[in-house]
Amino acid sequence: MATGEVHSQCAGYTLPVPNVQSLATSLDKSSQIPERYVRPEAEVNVIVRTSEIELPVIDLAKLIHPEFSKEEAAKLHLTCQEWSFFQLVNHGVPEELIEGLKANTVEFFNKPLEEKMVYKQDNDGTLQGYGQAFVLSEEQKLDWSDMFYVMTRPVALRNMKFWPTSPSAFRDNIDRYSLELTKVASCLWLYIATNLGVAPEVFAQLFKDHPQGMRFNYYPPCPEADKVIGISPHSDATVFSILLQINDVQGLQIRKDGEWIAVSALPNALIVNLGDITEVLSNGIYKSIEHRVLINTEHPRITLVAFHGPHNSVMLQPLPEVVRDGKLNYGSMSYQEFMKALFNKKLEGKSIIEKLKL
Ligand code: OGA
Ligand code: NI
Repeated sequence: MATGEVHSQCAGYTLPVPNVQSLATSLDKSSQIPERYVRPEAEVNVIVRTSEIELPVIDLAKLIHPEFSKEEAAKLHLTCQEWSFFQLVNHGVPEELIEGLKANTVEFFNKPLEEKMVYKQDNDGTLQGYGQAFVLSEEQKLDWSDMFYVMTRPVALRNMKFWPTSPSAFRDNIDRYSLELTKVASCLWLYIATNLGVAPEVFAQLFKDHPQGMRFNYYPPCPEADKVIGISPHSDATVFSILLQINDVQGLQIRKDGEWIAVSALPNALIVNLGDITEVLSNGIYKSIEHRVLINTEHPRITLVAFHGPHNSVMLQPLPEVVRDGKLNYGSMSYQEFMKALFNKKLEGKSIIEKLKL
């Protein structure tokens, strides 16, 4: 990256907020939680389908297998159109690496607060470090979670001061996982492009040197779990995001056909969701999907979400190849402007992409 160039992921500011994990530890079962976390009832208890739905499964090994590829790619296309959310199995990320990273993440969050605060955010505009994001006012309701965020790609943009040195294998495992996910992401991107009828070279160019950031989320249990939200409803400002559940505590919900649906995933599957960038590039053939996390009274939910963006200089607009009948459904905006708009407001559904709709 040339000196002086503003990287799209460097526009984020957020107000410091209390650490939720230590707040939760200080409460007992009969405690009331601070008002800043209490949501209006209608926000938490909107219709949820009671049974958990297992997300559609896409098999990466089949996708790349000459014999099964066509069928699996057709399934991917349908899934992207109908769900925008799926779980990826046989993804090729070594199990030993996933297990190591899970153990490291749990160990990190279990450290005393002072040790984690060595890595706290320092308002450098990148949101990296331990803290929270998208808090723009003292009045805003807060999410019941802490996050730890590092930018992992392009490699030249890494700021190692935010990378924990303990547990000792953590850095190395984040680095290895980052590379493995880049392979998975590039492969998926290729099939998505082909499904949309876009030449692989065009898509490869859009995804060249793609930014990748890793957000570790810690959602503590809460004595008044039915009054809080772990992460506010939002769609991701990404090409797609790849979520790994660090432990098997569920809580993720997606909004489909106006209803919130609780979803569960197979252990060690990677949960993929299409983001706003893909929605615009595909002219809405694929839509990003709103999701949120609800909290329970007993167990922390821990996740690792890897955000994958497009090349930093991309202009967001429907690709000519996908625009049928000349009808554009979205206007255009540079990726940099888009990310600036994202970080200057609280997380709120699909509000940014709504502005681009024609
Ligand atoms: C996110 C997100 C969901 C989860 O970090 O963008 O949607 O289950 N996380 O942690
Ligand atoms: Ni998300």
